[in-house]
Amino acid sequence: MCGIVGYVGKNKAQGFLLSGLRRLEYRGYDSAGIATVANDGTVTLIRAKGKIDNLEERLAENRRQDNVGIGHTRWATHGEPDEKNAHPHRAGDIYLVHNGIIENYKELKKALSGYEFASETDSEVLAALIDSFYGQGKYSLTDAVVQALKLVRGTYGIAVISGRSPEEIVVARSGSPLVIGVGHDETLIASDASALVGHTKRAIYLNDGEVAKLTSNSIEVRTLNSEPVSAKVEEIETNLAAIQKGGYEHFLLKEIMEQPKSLAETLRGRVNSKNHTVHLGGPELSEAELRKIKHLIIVGCGTAYHAGLLAGYYIEQFTPEITIETVIASEYRYRAAYIPKDSVALIVSQSGETADTLACLREIKKQGIKTIGIVNAIGSTIAREVDGGTYVHVGPEISVASTKAFTSQTIAMVMFGLTIAQAKGVKNVILKPYIDEIVKLPEEISRVLETAPQEVEKISKKYAKYEHSIYLGRDTAYPTAMEGALKLKEVSYVDANAYAFGELKHGPLALVDDRFFELAFLPKGPLYDKSISNVQEVMARGGHVVVVTNDDAFDMPVESVVKITTSIELFVPILMNLVSQLLAYYITIEKGYDVDQPRNLAKSVTVE
Ligand code: AGP
Repeated sequence: MCGIVGYVGKNKAQGFLLSGLRRLEYRGYDSAGIATVANDGTVTLIRAKGKIDNLEERLAENRRQDNVGIGHTRWATHGEPDEKNAHPHRAGDIYLVHNGIIENYKELKKALSGYEFASETDSEVLAALIDSFYGQGKYSLTDAVVQALKLVRGTYGIAVISGRSPEEIVVARSGSPLVIGVGHDETLIASDASALVGHTKRAIYLNDGEVAKLTSNSIEVRTLNSEPVSAKVEEIETNLAAIQKGGYEHFLLKEIMEQPKSLAETLRGRVNSKNHTVHLGGPELSEAELRKIKHLIIVGCGTAYHAGLLAGYYIEQFTPEITIETVIASEYRYRAAYIPKDSVALIVSQSGETADTLACLREIKKQGIKTIGIVNAIGSTIAREVDGGTYVHVGPEISVASTKAFTSQTIAMVMFGLTIAQAKGVKNVILKPYIDEIVKLPEEISRVLETAPQEVEKISKKYAKYEHSIYLGRDTAYPTAMEGALKLKEVSYVDANAYAFGELKHGPLALVDDRFFELAFLPKGPLYDKSISNVQEVMARGGHVVVVTNDDAFDMPVESVVKITTSIELFVPILMNLVSQLLAYYITIEKGYDVDQPRNLAKSVTVE
């Protein structure tokens, strides 16, 4: 996934382009560049390998007063992350930035034999294709873009400028997000609204198959078939504080510590603690439709998938006669899975732009199955394509590692399950414990976060030296272990893997030696003693065991213990997950890696 920005208006373009790229850097940070065009048609193209800081150094030597420009921060898909593959790409009179994948770029490249290609990218081919029409002199810049896009297969969010049309930017999207910021005598573009905050509160979310010609005071949107589109101007909900670090050194720690507040936002107006009921407006399912549900398919990738697994464990505890299948989107989309008609699919995605999850959504909709989004990013593609949905409202999640979204996605799905149970007439006495604990959860999270950071920071120094780790749990602590292992591996690059405690003897126990530390989740409950026995098996083989438990009386001679004090029992794994998040954070800090922008990754994977 890459970040795109653009500016046309009364101010100097470089300022917004640079600040916008910084806000979008979490989307990709292999290389960056901007191109600006002066009134006389002179175009200045500046690109740099690596992070935005490197581009800023280049720009400092090359300040331009131009009022029109485009910019890009890259997560490499085709071609190495170096300057020649950095965007914007130039072909003839065309300068282009692109987010997405042009699947037929090789055949297009063959047909563009008159062009010399400087890069290995599919994006440069798209620039040449547009120029091959624009250079004929009979198409406007917008029409040249339209002609080219009609030949393209794949996904794109693009912005195009040319020295021959110095007052305008042409944008288009299909499969990669693009938001137009509506200003006063200025028009802005960004891959997501966070780059527009502080510049305008008014935005137009471009839809797939739409193209727009932008000037400082006009926005003309149309389809690829040249039908005019009356674009809807929407309010941008995010504010500046939400996208800044708020005094924390890193977004990851900020977003971990925000969870009491962010979960409270997820619950706002949706739980009635007096009569112990839950109400979600978004899914737009009647009581009768909820009653008819016999199967739930929960779809997601990465952390969203883990949230679905955890939520599935809870929902089957209190909802009768429902089968629940949680699937990895990139697998499920290619399976020939039969979906019974009385199913509902929960589509889980923080960004609402993950390509595999979006593709899965589209496949499931083709079977006429109702799709409900569990999404954070307002106005995102998945949020707009599902039949109904529940925004988790955790605010922008900037750090690549997802934390607050996991907690809120899990609870939002549990609440959806509770609405099904309520509709099916499940007795309140069964649902009340879950609802009461959900209401308490923000405060319980807050209580854990009062002491856990210091405790975890202390032990992280000991475990930062390990390159391998095993995370272990049973029942609801097993998806929690999976999520914890993902957190550690994606920010600290430790080879961390999760296993169900009961699986240890079937193979993973062979791994235990001094290369590994083991993180064992031991929530009190009916499976606690079984898990204790498993910990003993690991210790008997010299394991370096860290136990996370809410059992105040825990006193096994393990290497390290993090005790959680809480009055809740059902959702203890949600609290234990805070420890994993903090452990991943502090181990990474100890290792000196970039905790918010880990290597090889991007915040939302909008390519397959
Ligand atoms: C989680 O920490 C990762 N950043 C990644 O696994 C992420 O959860 C996954 O790519 C799904 O993203 P989404 O929720 O935006 O769809």
